[in-house]
Amino acid sequence: MRTPLSVIVIEDSLEEVKRIEAALTSEGISCHCQQVNTPADLVAALVYEDVSIVLSHYPHPAFEGISALKTTKDKRPDVPFVFLSTAFDEESTVEMLKSGATDCVLKPCLCMLALVVRRAVAETEGRNARKQLETMLVEAGKMEVVGRLTAGIAHDFNNLLAVINGYSDLLLEKIPETDPVSRDVRQISLAGDRAAKLTRELLDFTRRHGGHQKAVKLNSIVADVEMLVRHLVGEKVRLITKLDPRVASIMADPTLIEQVIMNLAANARDAMPGGGILQIACCADNLQEEAASAAGVMPGHHAVLTVTDTGSGMDESTKARMFEPFFTTKEAGKGTGLGLWSAFEIVEQLGGGIIVESEPGRGTTFRIYFPMITCGEALSTRQTNDLEVRKCGDGPRRKQRELRPPVLARSPGSSEYTILPGHRPPASSQKA
Ligand SMILES: Nc1ncnc2c1ncn2[C@@H]1O[C@H](COP(=O)(O)OP(=O)(O)OP(=O)(O)O)[C@@H](O)[C@H]1O
Ligand SMILES: [Mg+2]
Repeated sequence: MRTPLSVIVIEDSLEEVKRIEAALTSEGISCHCQQVNTPADLVAALVYEDVSIVLSHYPHPAFEGISALKTTKDKRPDVPFVFLSTAFDEESTVEMLKSGATDCVLKPCLCMLALVVRRAVAETEGRNARKQLETMLVEAGKMEVVGRLTAGIAHDFNNLLAVINGYSDLLLEKIPETDPVSRDVRQISLAGDRAAKLTRELLDFTRRHGGHQKAVKLNSIVADVEMLVRHLVGEKVRLITKLDPRVASIMADPTLIEQVIMNLAANARDAMPGGGILQIACCADNLQEEAASAAGVMPGHHAVLTVTDTGSGMDESTKARMFEPFFTTKEAGKGTGLGLWSAFEIVEQLGGGIIVESEPGRGTTFRIYFPMITCGEALSTRQTNDLEVRKCGDGPRRKQRELRPPVLARSPGSSEYTILPGHRPPASSQKA
């Protein structure tokens, strides 16, 4: 617990405020107590970032019923709130706790107060630290996406550079060195070479950050991330997980799959501001030709991750654009529009596909198909970008995306160059 605590005390007797401060100090809690006597003063005091806890005498003449609690929860839901009273009747205690009060302590003896304050502040600090970690995890996912975006741009830029460099080389061959134009073209060629080197470095950098694949159980990933998801979605959302032990391993970087789950859970939370149900389930499915093509994957055994919410759902125009980078329907500062795009990029890199079912007012289901390792063949961990994962048995096969630089080719005797492009990713497999 970080001390000294900054304590707001809603209390009309200054003597009583001093007694509270003394009770906390005598139990080793260093604190500063600020007396508050009116609703306006409370609002003003809650503005300060460092407020640790609010202690409120009940009943207080200036605050009707439990209005002090409601104001505090409204302005600072993260700050614990404790009622102090000489007597609590059962009905009002239930109302206080239901409305978010952390605890109720009896006066005049304040022997319980230090214990209650210490526990409330420690729990809040723990919750805040977890929230910070969750945010960092989501942000790390977004940085991963920025890396992928950079790789995509670098790849396309490379195609253009191949044309610039190829044609300037062609011109240099045609123009005598003594011609002043030759000097200018050489400058173009040099700048083009430097740009190509820079692009190569960008591609190398993003490849190094492509994740480390290994054989992992989807079940274990979901079980590991469950607590984080629970904290991410908050108390208003009921989280249900359904795991199926028959789901065999998949080849993946578990951290990246965790990011997919966190992104989908964050979206589900945002789609259920008043609360609802979020279900995360794993199962196995042997996809035949038609179902596989709907999911944009190869036929065969798949591990399926299903994320379902009972939220607002999406209309047709949102569904059509949801996987686009930077597409968001959230207000400025609330969404970057990279969550689903990054999820899609990760799934696609693993040879998987996504099917989305959503209707306005009827919730959303994301069904994600990952190729399953169908027999015990040990697959070595390899770099994602130059990987061609082959599954054994009748498991699905899919060539992984590569970022190979384009090749410039010229037929003998011809002055025309043709670009043989690097491998591009297959068309998106999403289906709304
Ligand atoms: N479960 C869902 N329910 C309803 N709408 C959704 C759901 N998931 C995604 N969407 C819609 O798709 C849009 C794009 O989602 P995406 O996760 O890519 O970005 P975002 O959530 O807006 O921002 P962020 O980058 O912070 O995740 C959302 O703005 C929302 O309109
Ligand atoms: Mg999102």
